Amino acid sequence: MVDLFESQWLGSTVPLKNRIVMAPMTRTRTSDGDVPNELVATYYGQRATAGLIVTEATDVSPSSKGYALTPGIYTEAQRQGWRLVTDEVHRKGGKIFSQIWHVGRMAHPSLMPNGEAPWGATEERAEHSDVFAHDADGKLGYVRAGTPRRLGTDEVSALVGTFSQAFANARQAGFDGVEIHAANGYLFDQFMNSVLNRRTDRYGGGSVEDRTRFLMEVVDAAVRELGPGRVGVRLSPFGRFNSMPADPLVEETLLYVCEQLGRRGVTYMHLVYELMPAGNMESAEFKKHHIDHALLAKVRAAFPGAIIWAGGFTSRESAQAALDTGLADLIAFGRPYIANPDLAERLKHGWPLAEADPSTYYTRREEVGYTDFPTYPIDSAARGAA
Ligand SMILES: Cc1cc2nc3c(=O)[nH]c(=O)nc-3n(C[C@H](O)[C@H](O)[C@H](O)COP(=O)(O)O)c2cc1C
Repeated sequence: MVDLFESQWLGSTVPLKNRIVMAPMTRTRTSDGDVPNELVATYYGQRATAGLIVTEATDVSPSSKGYALTPGIYTEAQRQGWRLVTDEVHRKGGKIFSQIWHVGRMAHPSLMPNGEAPWGATEERAEHSDVFAHDADGKLGYVRAGTPRRLGTDEVSALVGTFSQAFANARQAGFDGVEIHAANGYLFDQFMNSVLNRRTDRYGGGSVEDRTRFLMEVVDAAVRELGPGRVGVRLSPFGRFNSMPADPLVEETLLYVCEQLGRRGVTYMHLVYELMPAGNMESAEFKKHHIDHALLAKVRAAFPGAIIWAGGFTSRESAQAALDTGLADLIAFGRPYIANPDLAERLKHGWPLAEADPSTYYTRREEVGYTDFPTYPIDSAARGAA
C-alpha cells in the first residue's frame, strides 16, 4: 500500500516528492500574444509543493485556440514566458509538465486566423457547448462553438508536425515533460469517439486503430522529441463535456489506447475518474459518479506506466482511499488547488482548506482569485503537529 506522501518516479526519469498532482486548469491570465508572464510564474511557483504540476491547456498553434487568453507554445515570446514559469517551479523544488492541446471543433471563427471555420475531425458542430470568444459586437464572452471544417487526411498528418514543434518548444522552455490533452471533447477525443468520427480515411472509419491513429502519431512524435519518460496522456473516456456523444465502443477504445500507450513507454495516463456529464461543473445537476472499478482494473492490467486519477478529490482521506485500491499511483486535485497554493501541506497536516470563488476562475482580474491566496499560517500548534 502506498502513502499519498510517499515519493514516486515517473519512469526512471522524473522523481516526484509525493503523489499529489495539480490538475491542469485554464486560468486566462496571459499577456498579449498569449504569453505567460511573471504573474503566471508566481502562481505555479506557489504550488510547487505538489509532486507534479500539469499546466493549463496550451495551444499548439493559432488555429488550436478555442478560448481567448489561453497561452500558446508556438512563438519565441511564449517559449520565453514559459521559461519564467519552469524556472520558478524548479527553483521551488517542483516538477512541471506542459499540457498540450488542440481544441478542434471547440472554437469560433472570431479566434481563428483570418476568421476561418474551426478545424474538426468531422463537420459536426458541438451544438450545445460554448467557447470563450468574440460575439457579433466584438465583445469577449461565451458564444456557441462554430461549425467546423473537416480536416483533410494530409492536414491531419501535417498537424503531427505542428505538435512535434510544440513538444520541442516545451523541452526548450524547460518543462520536465508534456501531457497530451486527449480528454474533455477536444480534438483527439473528437477523433477517438466512434459516434462522432464518421471519417472514411486512415484517421476514421470503423476500426479503433484508425480512430486512435492521430493520437498515436502525436504520441510517437512526443516520444521522439522528449523520450517516453517525459510523456503523459490525459483521457476522459466517459466524458460528455463539450457535446460529446455517448460512445458504445468506449471500453474497447480505452483498453486499446492503454495497451498502445504502454507499448510506447508513455510514462503516465491521467484519467478523469469522475464522469463528467454535459453542462457546467458548478451546476446543481453535476453529479459525482466515477468510472467502474472493474474497468479500472482492466486499465491497470493493460497499462504498465503510472496512473493518475482526477476529479472530485477534496481530502487526504479520499485520495488515500483511491491509492488503496491499488489501481492508481497519483491523485490529481483541480479546484482545491485554486484557493490552496499549499494544498500538499494542508492535506498532510489536516489543516482546513480555503474555498475559491468560481467567478475568478477565468477573469482577467489578474492576481485576484489567482495569486492572492495565503498559505496556511504556521502557528505553534501546527508546528507541533508536523
Ligand atoms: C478553472 C478550471 C479550468 C480547467 N481547465 C482544464 C484544462 O485546461 N485542461 C484539462 O484537462 N482540464 C481542465 N479542467 C478540469 C480539471 O483538470 C479537473 O479534471 C476537474 O476540475 C475535476 O477535478 P477537481 O474535482 O479536483 O476540480 C479545468 C477545471 C477548472 C475548474
